[in-house]
Amino acid sequence: PTPSKSYNDRVGLFRGDITTLALDAIVNAANRSLMGGGGVDGAIHRRAGNELFEECKRVGRCETGEAKITNGYKLPCRKVIHAVGPIYDPSDHAGSERLLTGCYRRSLELAVENECRTVAFSAISTGVYGYPSRDAAPAAMGAIRAFLDGPSGKDLDKVVIVTYELKDVDAYNEFIPYVTLP
Ligand code: APR
Repeated sequence: PTPSKSYNDRVGLFRGDITTLALDAIVNAANRSLMGGGGVDGAIHRRAGNELFEECKRVGRCETGEAKITNGYKLPCRKVIHAVGPIYDPSDHAGSERLLTGCYRRSLELAVENECRTVAFSAISTGVYGYPSRDAAPAAMGAIRAFLDGPSGKDLDKVVIVTYELKDVDAYNEFIPYVTLP
């Protein structure tokens, strides 16, 4: 059997625009309609072009805590995984966290099912949806680690968390090192 690469070799942080990354898949912070929006969702739809919107229409809705996969069209990545994170509910932190970690797990399952070995995640729910970055970061990294340590983890070579704003860089930086991307 091939030796398993360590967690730290496979997980990293990248600061910048996720729409520029030529990895197998990027993960969008979408909403249940999958019809686009602001934030990173808007940026992904703008760069991918109208064919992405058309495919999302055919795919239909996506429940909170779940994810759906489409092609990347004009984006440099092959696939886009549209994950629907929770709107943060401070009165139900455990419920919010369950939905957020569900997004990460389901997105990685879809990546593996579609032979995507390199995946970049948006900081799901930490923008418009109000999830505090200092709580979202450990939840996200816990879900990613559990997946990489699980039976399908060997099918992934690189998982990158993409941060855009400084507040997110600081929150995630505590958990993961920076990576260099081609
Ligand atoms: N590349 C990477 N990250 C980005 C980019 C970009 N081009 N643009 C914004 N971000 C970051 C934000 O800084 C934030 O940390 O993405 C993170 C997620 O924020 P949002 O895009 O607001 O996503 P979310 O909080 O999950 O809210 C989802 O917003 O755009 C709508 O349709 C979307 O209704 C849905 C909601």
